[in-house]
Amino acid sequence: MTATSAYDQSAGAAGEVILQAEDVTMRFGGLTAVDSVNFTVRRGEIMGLIGPNGAGKTTFFNCLTGLYLPTSGRVVFDGAVLPPKPRKVVMAGMARTFQNIRLFGNMTALENVMVGRYCRTTTGPFTSIIRGPKFRRDEKAVRERSQELLDFVGLGHTTDHLARNLPYGDQRRLEIARALATDPKLILLDEPTAGMNPQETRQAEELVFRIRDTGLAVVVIEHDMRFIFNLCDRVLCLVQGRTLIEGTPAEVQSDPRVIEAYIGTGPEDATEPDRAADGSEGSRDA
Ligand SMILES: Nc1ncnc2c1ncn2[C@@H]1O[C@H](COP(=O)(O)OP(=O)(O)O)[C@@H](O)[C@H]1O
Ligand SMILES: [Mg+2]
Repeated sequence: MTATSAYDQSAGAAGEVILQAEDVTMRFGGLTAVDSVNFTVRRGEIMGLIGPNGAGKTTFFNCLTGLYLPTSGRVVFDGAVLPPKPRKVVMAGMARTFQNIRLFGNMTALENVMVGRYCRTTTGPFTSIIRGPKFRRDEKAVRERSQELLDFVGLGHTTDHLARNLPYGDQRRLEIARALATDPKLILLDEPTAGMNPQETRQAEELVFRIRDTGLAVVVIEHDMRFIFNLCDRVLCLVQGRTLIEGTPAEVQSDPRVIEAYIGTGPEDATEPDRAADGSEGSRDA
């Protein structure tokens, strides 16, 4: 499979706005986790989202992907305001991975990807029950496409391995394959390199570039600054729910306020994954 042939349908004109968040605010009781954030993503672009722990990055992702209905503001994806329903968001062409990996541990790597793929098949319950020719054709297509995606993320050799037995870095890549299986136009990655060693991180970087090269837009949350600044076309830095700065990696990197925002949380926190603040997410994306 060539990288481009896989996503021809979803590759639109580069540069066109695919996602627009307008004045998005999310409050939990008295706490404003996301405060009037504006954000634009274009096709073929890799956007980075950074900020110290608790800055509101995951909450903002949850607003973008329909897990949360923002307290105010709106999210426009591919020209339409999205309903706050994760499944409809996936059908519209937005897919994500989670800060805390959410795989089906007792299913194989291939089956995990197939789960993502089923949302694009038209097999109805009746066809599934009688398991007629259409069911078998669909099933074969789903299986083949899922295997292609495993190959694409570098997990072609893990087809029959149980997801829970895969090393951590591979589980993250498997989640990406499952997200890609939904044929997204935009993929959102929440800390894709958390827990990865430097070699796996380099592979993840290369994978994100290949995903972008197939015509997708990518939004990525990461604490690893080298990863973010190498990878992204633009970077948004959130601090206490507000936009501190948005700009090119060079602009963001050289802004003393960004360094200051991280120093407040200690230098280790700037590179370590944040595991605590993710427990409240709702349903699966696939
Ligand atoms: N479901 C929730 N209910 C209440 N507070 C929440 C919820 N989700 C996140 N928060 C709070 O919102 C703030 C932002 O959290 P989060 O978006 O997870 O930050 P980040 O991903 O940048 O580390 C934190 O203070 C967190 O405790
Ligand atoms: Mg988070």
